[in-house]
Amino acid sequence: MPNTRIAGVGKYIPEKVYDNAYMESIVDTNDEWITRRTGIKERHVSAENEYTTDMATIAAERAIADAGLTAADIDLIMLATVTPDYFTPSCACVVQNNIGAVNAAAFDFNTACSSFITGVVIADQFIRMGTYKNILLICADCLTKATDYKDRATCVLFGDAAGAAVLSADDSCSGIISSELGADGTGCKAITSLAFRNDEEEIEQRISKRKETIWMAGQAVMKFAVKAMADSSNNVLKEAGLTYDDIKLVIPHQANYRIVDSAIKRMGIDKDKVFLHLEKFGNTSASCIPVALAEAVEEGLIERGDKIILVGFGGGLTWGAALLEF
Ligand code: UT7
Repeated sequence: MPNTRIAGVGKYIPEKVYDNAYMESIVDTNDEWITRRTGIKERHVSAENEYTTDMATIAAERAIADAGLTAADIDLIMLATVTPDYFTPSCACVVQNNIGAVNAAAFDFNTACSSFITGVVIADQFIRMGTYKNILLICADCLTKATDYKDRATCVLFGDAAGAAVLSADDSCSGIISSELGADGTGCKAITSLAFRNDEEEIEQRISKRKETIWMAGQAVMKFAVKAMADSSNNVLKEAGLTYDDIKLVIPHQANYRIVDSAIKRMGIDKDKVFLHLEKFGNTSASCIPVALAEAVEEGLIERGDKIILVGFGGGLTWGAALLEF
């Protein structure tokens, strides 16, 4: 059975920036509170006429070029988003058309901020079974279009971005060594954004009363996130029979500096083993991990042959981790 290698990565970050001074001008908050409680200084915001598939298309083209492939080499496109352009068609089909990936099957999926891990695990199954050779995995979200800018507890957190990776069949590396996915639906109301449902209670708890905006039970999510990320990372490490000394870099979901800090204390690792870009981008949902991966490669922090752990959590509630040889 072939192994699954991350053959290329790509990212797209929109130009416009909301810094903490801007957030101070629209809600009752301040730079000191945001920095101390979250670690975020800036977040990038998609243009008014810029949507998930626009950002996804650019990240995808960059990942395909980085893998040394063309769009025609892609067998499958999987795209994760919680802010799709349409209910139908899928964003994956729109991107397939945009990039001319004429040989690719395409579908969307959604485990919220855990989606990149979910996508890696799904891609690994297809590649090991010999179904597909080159899979394009894209995570893209314009969360700022679903942000309640009257709610200071959430509006300071979110930014927009897209991250992509090409996963290819390759026997020359160990690929995905171990992985874990989890879900706890009893927490399904902890982070919500409504589609057709008209739940009065949900609408009432939103300051803007716009049901599609994201509402979150911040404290509860934070508590869940620390345990989920630390345990999941420890589990994939144990399954692989390795220790953190064998790991070059841990790339966590970037939601809040305090969540990452508490999780890494639980994991017993130093901060310098963890990649963080939270300060620049805030929480960009599922894009956090692939964007961070692309940055870590650009900055020379990981090289071919290094072992890394990707670990995340998100709405659902969901979580997951993957230990892989890059
Ligand atoms: O991607 C996955 C989804 N999201 C997350 O992972 C987020 C998880 N949760 C969090 O990151 C944190 O819970 C928050 C950053 C959302 C909030 O931090 P917290 O330390 O849990 O604060 P809190 O909700 O307990 O609020 C403490 C105080 C409250 O004031 P009072 O009631 O003590 O007077 C809030 O109203 O801080 C107030 N507050 C703010 N003050 C200034 C909340 N947001 C702000 C703000 N600026 N932006």
